[in-house]
Amino acid sequence: MPDFFEDVARKWKSFSTGRASRKSSRIDETAVKTAYARWAPVYDWVFGYVFDSGRRAAVAFLNELPPSHLLECGVGTGISLPHYKTDHRITGIDLSPDMLDVARERVRKDRLTNIVALEEADAGDLSAADASFDASVAMFVLTVVPDPQAVMSELARVTKPGGAVVLVSHFADQKGWRKWFGEKMAPLSSSLGWHMDFSVDRILGRSDLRLVDRRRIGPIGFFTLLVFERV
Ligand SMILES: C[S@@+](CC[C@H](N)C(=O)[O-])C[C@H]1O[C@@H](n2cnc3c(N)ncnc32)[C@H](O)[C@@H]1O
Repeated sequence: MPDFFEDVARKWKSFSTGRASRKSSRIDETAVKTAYARWAPVYDWVFGYVFDSGRRAAVAFLNELPPSHLLECGVGTGISLPHYKTDHRITGIDLSPDMLDVARERVRKDRLTNIVALEEADAGDLSAADASFDASVAMFVLTVVPDPQAVMSELARVTKPGGAVVLVSHFADQKGWRKWFGEKMAPLSSSLGWHMDFSVDRILGRSDLRLVDRRRIGPIGFFTLLVFERV
């Protein structure tokens, strides 16, 4: 792995302990922005197919909802935006301005008129008012952020009661060949700031979000779709 990505992986590891101070969280924000500035031009090419089954499962669930205003957190290059049904209105946020630039270009080129906003924001500290969205979704984001609980709290806060909070990600497997595969994927995932050892238990058991669906996704079931109802 190139030095740059090793450095990013080291920084991410240091704040995954949950002891990140305010100062280190600013450093971490810089690390995310720097890493994804480098990934932005090639992200779709490298991670487009790899994460495709997870994204499609999440969007398929959301497309079953009546016309809604959805929040996509960590929208990245906007790779999933063309797949939402056109009578959903989508607001996307991401920490990386470079990833957002790619998303904006996609919206322009594909004439995606249902994308109402693409904004630079921290998923753990959103400016949206409480209950602003009918549903919210975060795909391959929870295992990247320094404080997943803060992101879960924000997703719950900005989603209307009765609305859906949808997550898709890889969560750590304790044993078997998926654990083995996860270990093989570790160098690539580290370069994304992605924690392969992230346990799903860290985000379950909240009083504001009731788990209503949990499914393995893709041919080898490496990813998991979680659907919560905002209580
Ligand atoms: C692995 S990529 C996933 C992108 C996209 N959701 C997908 O399906 O390909 C993780 C994304 O989360 C963004 N991100 C990381 N930390 C974030 C934060 N605290 N707030 C918002 N976005 C964040 C990154 O900039 C990046 O675009």
